[in-house]
Amino acid sequence: MEERKVVFSGVQPSGSLTIGNYIGAIRNWISLQDEYDCFYSIVDLHSITVPQEPKNLRKNTLELLAVYLACGLDPEKCTIFIQSHVPAHAELCWVLNTMSYMGQLGRMTQYKEKSQKVGENVNAGLFTYPVLMAADILLYQTDLVPVGEDQKQHLELARDLAERFNNKYSPTFKIPEPLIKKEGARIMSLQNPEKKMSKSDENENAYILILDSPDAIRRKIRRAVTDLKGQVKYSDEQPGIKNLIEIYSAFSGDSIEDIEKRYEGKGYSQFKEDLAEVVVSGLAPIQEKYNYYMKNKDYLESVYKKGAERANYVSNKTLRKVYRKVGFIER
Ligand code: TYM
Repeated sequence: MEERKVVFSGVQPSGSLTIGNYIGAIRNWISLQDEYDCFYSIVDLHSITVPQEPKNLRKNTLELLAVYLACGLDPEKCTIFIQSHVPAHAELCWVLNTMSYMGQLGRMTQYKEKSQKVGENVNAGLFTYPVLMAADILLYQTDLVPVGEDQKQHLELARDLAERFNNKYSPTFKIPEPLIKKEGARIMSLQNPEKKMSKSDENENAYILILDSPDAIRRKIRRAVTDLKGQVKYSDEQPGIKNLIEIYSAFSGDSIEDIEKRYEGKGYSQFKEDLAEVVVSGLAPIQEKYNYYMKNKDYLESVYKKGAERANYVSNKTLRKVYRKVGFIER
């Protein structure tokens, strides 16, 4: 039998997910399940690079698992697991740390942004964050990594590290490719379309959460920043409207051109009203399933336990090879 190609991706359990996470990442994971051997992780080790309340982290981790399932990930088809349940991630990260250059890590945009926010006493985990991400990906001999645009630079680092290791020792890691969709890879803030939509935005009108109520969704879209041109056009000169069209297209499945045509000569308020309904009805089945899974904690536990078993098995094969090549005596 021909081996299926491998897909790896993850989301941090650091609070509620935005529709940016959904459109840019999770939505694209679903269709890959049938064709590829997919590993989807809840990356809790990554999330502690910023302060977390332990109680909330536990809660957010389970909630994220329920969101994964509600969005359509099927544990019969893919491996869903919690990163800290698979020690190989931290172990490979250590080896890769010893091969990572401080200069390259210092140039990571996300690190620069996050460390600026933190100010003094930036923790070392924030600095080596992308190395852990490289370990995640490389452990599974991943071919494809479906992510949003903001993760592209981290993916390049993962490729560099894989090549560096392969050249220093011998071919060990597959070189992974990012899978970044042209549309929806960077959903912008509703309040400032020059900025990425982010759950850590201090203005809650800037983002829509997957679990937002219909009223909240309607209100946030009504307040979304647009422009004075008054035409529903997908253009860089109208970044606010462009972003709303992308969201419309992602939830309705309609093409950008169809949406432009439909709203030709119509004002923004009609467009926004319709968009709100498209988003509300797109999220409704996800929210319903989410509530169902959150009431079935035993089931959630069985999913992450089974996922960890397979993830441990697969990742340890790579880790053993790495340890042997580096010169560690076999356990
Ligand atoms: P995280 O948790 O910040 O985001 C999860 C995914 O959502 C995408 N995303 C967006 N896409 C479009 N528009 C937006 N506004 C938007 N905001 C977020 C992100 O690109 C990401 O795909 N480092 C990763 C998690 C991670 C990972 C990995 C991903 C850890 N190890 C290995 C892939 C492979 C992160 O912080 O994602």
